[in-house]
Amino acid sequence: MVDSATEILLPKEDILRRVAELAAMIDRDYAGRELLVIGVLKGAFIFLADIIRALHIPSSVDFVMISSYGSGRESSGSVVIKKDIDALIAGRDILIVEDILDTGITLSGLVDIMKKRNPASLRVCVLLDKPSRRTIPFTADYVGFSIPDAFVVGYGLDCNEKYRHLPDVRIFRDPESSYA
Ligand code: XMP
Ligand code: MG
Repeated sequence: MVDSATEILLPKEDILRRVAELAAMIDRDYAGRELLVIGVLKGAFIFLADIIRALHIPSSVDFVMISSYGSGRESSGSVVIKKDIDALIAGRDILIVEDILDTGITLSGLVDIMKKRNPASLRVCVLLDKPSRRTIPFTADYVGFSIPDAFVVGYGLDCNEKYRHLPDVRIFRDPESSYA
């Protein structure tokens, strides 16, 4: 049923425990304030849904869609906004929520774009970080798990649009893949 994606890297219980810890940090850091949470489509949608439900501070939500990976796995090197947020962000506290920080191309490009819109503050929260893959220096403010260099799916993350529904994060092993 899950064919190439059989090895569980992060069981759902561990993910939800870590999500609660991240939300507690965010609650503490933004006490008395209100957040605009910007999710990066599509991979972050499940993580974002869990994070905002674990927060106690008020938040509103918007989404952005970026093109840098296409349907494959390697970043193309530049960041283009395919679907922009509707909200105005000038003067607001912004938290970008992303599934995974890999080369750093997507998030460094997105942060540059959003900073030009003059938010009051801007931080980044990622579920997963693959520090060994970085080609552009980038550090997220909140990191769920630091993981080794493996291609992962589940909990919102896909391979060619499959496996997003899996509740755990799994290592994807494809005989055709350079990641295998
Ligand atoms: P960069 O390289 O720009 O990449 O930091 C971030 C984007 O790359 C995708 N990505 C993955 N997607 N499993 C996935 O399903 C992975 O292991 C993986 N590594 C990177 C992801 O779309 C993220 O937004
Ligand atoms: Mg993504």
